[in-house]
Amino acid sequence: MIIAVDGPAASGKGTIAKALGRHYDLPCLDTGLLYRAVGLSVLDAGGDPDLESDALAGCDFNDSLLDDAALRSEAIGAIASRVSVHQSVRLALVQRQREFATQPGGAILDGRDIGTVIAPDADAKLFVTASVAVRAQRRYAEGLAHGGAPSLEALVADIEARDARDMSRETAPLKMAAGSDLLDTSDLTIAQAVSQAIALVDAQLEGRRPA
Ligand code: CDP
Repeated sequence: MIIAVDGPAASGKGTIAKALGRHYDLPCLDTGLLYRAVGLSVLDAGGDPDLESDALAGCDFNDSLLDDAALRSEAIGAIASRVSVHQSVRLALVQRQREFATQPGGAILDGRDIGTVIAPDADAKLFVTASVAVRAQRRYAEGLAHGGAPSLEALVADIEARDARDMSRETAPLKMAAGSDLLDTSDLTIAQAVSQAIALVDAQLEGRRPA
């Protein structure tokens, strides 16, 4: 069984995907980490994320990079969004994602194009979203919790810029996949979002909409 969870930055998709993984006992892949690893590799090599050849060279990263805490920063998220517009970069990462998706027993993947490109035949698909204000506030609280001094204004600008880039790129833009259910987490606690996600997935698996 394959579950696809897509959505914009800070929508809650990663938290929901992990919770679904525990609920259905399925392994999870945060595909954003792959693009973040490409971005960090490009920076480390002194390359230009907007130059397709530099970005493609960054796809040869060592897997140990996926555990690097530096990948989680907002700055690397923005670089990931820049390298991910290049078609050759997306192609270079497809096989690894499809292998994960089709492993025996099933899998959950979260990202931007899982339900549209990586696993269009997924058994269940969610599109997780939330308002820009709520998403920026979440990143702000995370920043504070990690001892930083984030700027709410800068976070709003970063999220808007990333949404615009992710939704307008030619290859695999962020959009709701056919057969996907929308889950808006703006006014939901994590527990509420997770229980709604499970209800939606159960309903899709049973081939019906929730009552
Ligand atoms: O965690 P957050 O939602 O902030 O970002 P992420 O999921 O780690 O993704 C970082 C960036 O990688 C996104 O802004 C996308 O541009 C890109 N990405 C993508 O193009 N396709 C994916 N399947 C996952 C991420």
